[in-house]
Amino acid sequence: MDKLWQENKPLLNLDAGDVFGTRTQNEREQTRFLCEVLGSFGLDGIGLGEQDLNYGLEFLREMTTQHGLPFINANVRETKTGQLILPAYKVVERNGVTYGITSVLDPQQQILTLTGGEGQFTVDDPAATLRELLPRLRKEVECVVLLAHMGETGTEKLLNEVQGIDICVVGHSFRNIETERVINDVAVFGSAYEGRFIGKANLFVEEKSGRVMAIDVGITDFDDKAPEDAEVLTRVEKFKQDLVAFKDARRAAYPRVHGSQEEQFLGDRSCFNCHEAAWQAYAASAHRRAYTSLRKDGQSSEPDCLVCHTTGYQYKNGYSDESPFNKLVNVQCEACHGYGTTHARDGKWRLQARNSCVACHDQANSPNFNYATYWEKIKH
Ligand code: HEC
Ligand code: HEC
Ligand code: HEC
Ligand code: HEC
Repeated sequence: MDKLWQENKPLLNLDAGDVFGTRTQNEREQTRFLCEVLGSFGLDGIGLGEQDLNYGLEFLREMTTQHGLPFINANVRETKTGQLILPAYKVVERNGVTYGITSVLDPQQQILTLTGGEGQFTVDDPAATLRELLPRLRKEVECVVLLAHMGETGTEKLLNEVQGIDICVVGHSFRNIETERVINDVAVFGSAYEGRFIGKANLFVEEKSGRVMAIDVGITDFDDKAPEDAEVLTRVEKFKQDLVAFKDARRAAYPRVHGSQEEQFLGDRSCFNCHEAAWQAYAASAHRRAYTSLRKDGQSSEPDCLVCHTTGYQYKNGYSDESPFNKLVNVQCEACHGYGTTHARDGKWRLQARNSCVACHDQANSPNFNYATYWEKIKH
């Protein structure tokens, strides 16, 4: 970006959406930081992706105003009011040419929010939306730019159905568009996800007509070879510390009060060699899926859930998301039997395990729990 700004040429700086992280509290914290940095990138328009509603509308609005992020969308409405949640388009002028930037979201992308409540948003048909909007927009501007949060195939279909677009940036796509592409007279660009790439297209735009001719397209890969920016690096380091503090504060409700620093959870694989039959029974049980169930719910970093869906959460050297303790996902052997480093052979481990169930199978989370019938399902 610095290099582009130094060239001092008229620049349209665009993002086609999915800026925000996944639906966990930790990633929401990370997203705050990302938005803060993104605010200094001087973006002209950001298309709304379904991910950008992961933390609800309030949060999106908060980020938009706090960091001046120009989110745009023409087809997502708040169900309750029927109103569009963002400006449908934005007009910018560069070197005597006026550009109208608009964006649509694929209705097939499910919008789920951490704040809950399904059906908060209604997504209008993108083609119908653009057919209505574009004739109006064209009266105002010379060149229409669409940020299509539709993936590659969805975008291609849309561009063949709608007239009046000059430039299109594809969002919700996992591939870079490495060379110049034209669909139905529209110059199409796109770079892949997670900010790992930045695409640059040199355009030649006819002043009167706003007619676009792309000259060349390039993709920059932010791999390990890309030099660090000293200022951003400092901010990232600082943020990492903040994130640790944030996680610790949230975890504080579940302190590691049990066990001993001298003991270790060895992981279910370590039992396999001597107890293969027990391991197979475990592998087929729901306990082996406990963490995956959280992932499905987007709750895999919630202390409120991890406490029962991982091994040794409140024990010293128990589960954490840092290696090597992150291997202690799911309800493994040692969640019931205890630290593998103190392998008991005097009947104590069997007894301890029989008493372990109710710590997790409590009234709130397992109302039908009955030792005999439940043991029957996981016996080994
Ligand atoms: C560390 C917490 C924890 C302990 C201890 C624990 N469970 Fe579970 N159990 C879970 C979780 C979490 C699930 C749900 C897993 C999933 O499907 O995501 C579960 C699921 C089950 C299921 C499957 C329920 C179904 O409807 O299919 C059975 C059976 C079960 N546990 C039996 C037991 C028994 C018996 C004990 C004690 C010997 C026990 N559990 C100890 C956390 C625990
Ligand atoms: C006190 C322990 C405990 C806590 C806390 C807990 N769970 Fe569970 N969870 C269980 C147990 C035990 C079961 C199995 C219940 C049964 O089948 O009887 C279960 C089952 C589940 C299942 C059903 C698995 C399936 O596919 O059928 C899901 C999903 C789940 N929990 C998600 C969560 C989420 C999300 C949270 C946090 C908001 C959470 N749990 C917090 C103990 C817990
Ligand atoms: C959900 C809790 C739970 C998990 C997970 C679990 N066990 Fe157990 N295990 C028990 C209980 C309870 C008993 C004792 C049953 C009894 O004696 O009534 C037991 C018994 C055993 C025994 C003794 C069997 C015998 O014939 O005396 C072995 C060995 C064992 N478990 C190994 C494992 C291994 C290895 C794993 C992981 C691959 C594992 N267990 C996972 C609860 C669990
Ligand atoms: C080096 C082989 C070995 C490994 C590894 C091993 N065990 Fe054992 N385990 C044994 C032997 C041998 C016994 C005694 C068998 C008997 O008494 O029938 C035993 C007994 C047990 C029992 C019954 C204990 C009791 O209460 O008397 C449990 C439960 C058990 N093992 C669980 C585990 C778990 C969980 C792991 C992994 C953390 C594990 N074992 C790893 C060899 C091993």
